[in-house]
Amino acid sequence: MSRVAVIGAGTMGHALALVFALGGHQVRLTDSNEATLARAQGLMEKALATLVEGGEAPADWTSGHLAQSVTRHPSLAEAVDGAELIVEAIIETPEAKRALFAQLDALAPADAIIASNTSHLDVFPLIPAARQARALIAHWYTPPYLVDLVDVIPGPQCEPAVFEGVMQTLRDMGKQPLGLKKFVPGYVANRIQAAIGLEVQHLLDEGVATAPEIDAAIIHGLALRLPILGVFAKADFTGLALSQAILSNKSYAPPPVRGRSDTLDTLVAEGRTGVLAGAGYYDWPQDPATLFEARDRRLIALKQAMREIGTMAGLERGT
Ligand SMILES: NC(=O)c1ccc[n+]([C@@H]2O[C@H](COP(=O)([O-])OP(=O)(O)OC[C@H]3O[C@@H](n4cnc5c(N)ncnc54)[C@H](O)[C@@H]3O)[C@@H](O)[C@H]2O)c1
Repeated sequence: MSRVAVIGAGTMGHALALVFALGGHQVRLTDSNEATLARAQGLMEKALATLVEGGEAPADWTSGHLAQSVTRHPSLAEAVDGAELIVEAIIETPEAKRALFAQLDALAPADAIIASNTSHLDVFPLIPAARQARALIAHWYTPPYLVDLVDVIPGPQCEPAVFEGVMQTLRDMGKQPLGLKKFVPGYVANRIQAAIGLEVQHLLDEGVATAPEIDAAIIHGLALRLPILGVFAKADFTGLALSQAILSNKSYAPPPVRGRSDTLDTLVAEGRTGVLAGAGYYDWPQDPATLFEARDRRLIALKQAMREIGTMAGLERGT
């Protein structure tokens, strides 16, 4: 695979274009919003510079090199012309995705693989029949140029060779693809994250703790052990009798699934939608590019430290 089209140049799309370019592919990037497509160039350049500086991308990757590897195309037809792999990273609504897949069916090469980055949607019923044999989900985590996990889920009619080919392409790019047998909303890591999301939102809405306090509990308590142990090895170190005792404590119940949160609804209504808006749970007065860079620098340092430290893998054997 060498010619990749990335559809959608938002939070994920611009970063995915960079990832595939760094992985040795020739990328065409498009977005239905011209301003977003224009903004993508600066975001990619900034992220690339941070990666180069941190030693996570080759030193000869200049913005000129990037401009040769990723070209931007307002026209969808031009973006997918000759594409071998099409990475779908547009907004997460079934209507928008269904409309795009219909357009792709008309415009894309017949043998192009369609890989959706959907977070939660079962996109397969939205994909035209003629494209089913070469359709799958490849779900990334942000920022995908630093987070290595990619969930890969074959569509119900996806040819095994297509699935295996994408898995191998991702491995060749230095990623950690996790192949699942079938679609389940949220895959593995996002399901766990969703459970955490329910709990922290509940604690916040009930006034048990503030957002900074909950983050402090995560950062200084939960997070330290996870990178080297995961959850099952951590349980082994804690002792499984404690796991039994915790499970048997029926006074603890996960929060009810309400489908919404008072705090979250208020923040969004106030326009506090996150870093790109300058505020969310916290105020973020600096410009987003500076904030992304600050996050990326810290992630690079952590990733390099984790590489050096290593996990407990190799000392255990999975059952
Ligand atoms: N943000 C994340 O952390 C994250 C992580 C993993 C997966 N995802 C998934 O990736 C996808 C994109 O998410 P995002 O956060 O980048 O969203 P985003 O809103 O930042 O970007 C989506 C982009 O798609 C464009 N778009 C909409 N319809 C289009 C069309 N028909 N053709 C071309 N472009 C179109 C929009 O203009 C927008 O720029 C979603 O399916 C989301 O669930 C997001």
